[in-house]
Amino acid sequence: MKVLITGGTGYIGSHTIIDLINAGFEVISVDNYINSDGSALQGIEKITGKKIKNYNIDLRDKEKTKIIFSENPDIEGIIHFAALKAVGESVEKPLLYFDNNINSLLNILDNSVKNNIKYFVFSSSCTVYGSPDKLPVDENTPVKDAESPYGRTKQISEQICKDVLQNTNIKAIMLRYFNPAGAHESAFLGESPALPPLNLVPIITETAIGKRKSMQVFGDDYDTRDGSAIRDYIHVMDLADAHTKALQYLIKNTNAPGYDFFNLGIGQGVTVLEAINAFEKVTGQKLNYSISKRRPGDIPAIYADYTKAKKMLNWNPKRNIEDIMLTAWEWEKVRNIQ
Ligand SMILES: NC(=O)c1ccc[n+]([C@@H]2O[C@H](COP(=O)([O-])OP(=O)(O)OC[C@H]3O[C@@H](n4cnc5c(N)ncnc54)[C@H](O)[C@@H]3O)[C@@H](O)[C@H]2O)c1
Repeated sequence: MKVLITGGTGYIGSHTIIDLINAGFEVISVDNYINSDGSALQGIEKITGKKIKNYNIDLRDKEKTKIIFSENPDIEGIIHFAALKAVGESVEKPLLYFDNNINSLLNILDNSVKNNIKYFVFSSSCTVYGSPDKLPVDENTPVKDAESPYGRTKQISEQICKDVLQNTNIKAIMLRYFNPAGAHESAFLGESPALPPLNLVPIITETAIGKRKSMQVFGDDYDTRDGSAIRDYIHVMDLADAHTKALQYLIKNTNAPGYDFFNLGIGQGVTVLEAINAFEKVTGQKLNYSISKRRPGDIPAIYADYTKAKKMLNWNPKRNIEDIMLTAWEWEKVRNIQ
């Protein structure tokens, strides 16, 4: 089955391509390199031996997007990763985020409907839950007011998918990721964003390798085990596997609901200080960090209850924070000598 990956040269999209190829899917990608440089395609080729075709098209461009479908009338599934994702930037440039993330989605949905696509998987985020009242967060946890324009694009996008796809034969799954991190075990592929990373794990590895002099832990006075904020870090290859399983679930279960959503985390909250300790333990590197004030907008803790994905998608994440740190570190070392 041919699957179109939007944002296929980005971080999660490229790792998912590997998992899909290993599961026997045929894959093509569309990515305009706004937050990637195409090096992921070389990594994918090294790992799988397959050359992936990428259309360098901005998904807001209606005319150019049509070309992908006219050249590939056999696309049956779409996994829609393409979006801008920097929370802070979305506060500064909300119009850019609404324009890019919403108009890309509308265009890809329009093409999905017109081209009889069967399966649609959307990259959503735990940001849709805002700051939850109860932990762990399951899918019945109420969606709260978004904390940023980025988070709002995810809430609106989920709603758009539901409204648009309910009167079609397209089956859709929204995957709500917690905190994706880590790299492919081969160290041929990892996170290489065009913009400076804002997530904890790449900041840790960049500090350890000397790209940053030091790093800050924002807040040690939260009501948590050690005072630092808790997140649910999920290894990117476990996340990739969930996309393959979501597609396989839709293909196998002809009675599956037309629209569904799943949390993807490993169900274990890790504090920032525990994450740093895990890094130091598995790599033997000492990190230069200091404690500073809480960052506005950061929530104290969030982690997932992923029972629904486990039961329905048969998904079982296998890697923990130490695997994340080790693979991210191996990747950091390799990409600095490339
Ligand atoms: N990484 C995370 O922490 C995280 C967490 C939750 C949800 N998500 C979501 O997962 C998806 C993938 O995230 P990622 O970490 O791989 O990000 P990424 O930036 O590495 O990948 C996204 C890719 O989409 C491309 N893109 C963006 N806008 C485009 C457009 N208009 N046309 C064509 N290509 C476009 C970018 O060039 C980039 O390569 C995004 O939707 C993101 O919001 C990410």
